Amino acid sequence: MNRVEKLIAEMALPVIAAPMFTVSNPAMALAVCAEGLMGTFPAHTTRSVEMLAEWLTIMDEGLAKLANSGGGAIGPFGVNLVVHPTNPRLAGDLDLCIEHKVPVILTSKGAPGEVFDRVHDYGGVVFHDIASARHAEKALEAGADGLIAVCGGAGGHCGTINPFALVNEVRQLTDKALILAGAVTTGRDVLAAQVMGADLVYMGTRFINTEESSASDGYRQMIVEAKSNDVFFTAAMDGAPANLLAASLVRAGVDLEDLKRQTPGAIISAQENKKRWKDVWSAGHGVGAIHDVLSVSALCDRLKAEYAEARAGLNRLSAVPA
Ligand SMILES: Cc1cc2nc3c(=O)[nH]c(=O)nc-3n(C[C@H](O)[C@H](O)[C@H](O)COP(=O)(O)O)c2cc1C
Repeated sequence: MNRVEKLIAEMALPVIAAPMFTVSNPAMALAVCAEGLMGTFPAHTTRSVEMLAEWLTIMDEGLAKLANSGGGAIGPFGVNLVVHPTNPRLAGDLDLCIEHKVPVILTSKGAPGEVFDRVHDYGGVVFHDIASARHAEKALEAGADGLIAVCGGAGGHCGTINPFALVNEVRQLTDKALILAGAVTTGRDVLAAQVMGADLVYMGTRFINTEESSASDGYRQMIVEAKSNDVFFTAAMDGAPANLLAASLVRAGVDLEDLKRQTPGAIISAQENKKRWKDVWSAGHGVGAIHDVLSVSALCDRLKAEYAEARAGLNRLSAVPA
């Protein structure tokens, strides 16, 4: 069993609580790890390298406490790094992750092999996010241990390709770990992703509606009230295609009809970046299956039960001719 296979085999459910800017935090990540799933946060949610150092120390201490408590499986921990050369914090954030030997590094935007090599040197693994087969080829060449297929319908900066299509294309390139991202919301969805050929899933939007997330009550309520057609796809916010809650755009004074005709630059120059992501809220197409806010622990229990029920229910397929 290689390092990645071992990591997955030791998880209670093949679910990564996906890194979400301004939403994920150490309390949420630790609560997820305590349930045997993978907890994560993006390094860039912290305001400074010093704050990232604090968050990593909280994780080290929290995970050590969990290990000593003698409970069940403890999930691995991952940090998301934007590895594009335009990220001024990359060098400092990476040095810290190396110092803390973060087990899983989730990289996005660009695929620099030297980052991957430095993570491999301390025994870490790197999963890189991709939205097309071409991105996947580049990430594999650079030495990624796994690929996060960000498909149409995902929250945040999303892809546009249908999950069946992207998984099939990536599976023709590699047997390495494949993580499916995009509207995965229930335990049944996790099993479906595995059947499609994925090894793990990224679950983002579902975890916004947990008590431990940093999302405001208004954000969570908007998710409870939303259906998939309340999610607006646009690159106008910051130039990269993203799924946003239409109601939050309207509330921020954006005319949706106008927005459909905007070029990306028009909105970018109109507002300041951080404020934009604070006032305009992102979510994936999975919103229609989210009806509550609950603790991470209760959510993970529910996901495990739904997964088990879906697996048991597969027997009903025996009626289908082979
Ligand atoms: C509010 C929000 C913020 C996000 N921020 C990041 C981020 O900082 N880095 C990243 O790699 N992905 C980010 N994502 C994408 C998620 O990691 C993940 O790919 C996505 O949420 C999966 O789709 P789902 O929300 O439909 O489950 C974000 C998603 C959301 C909803």
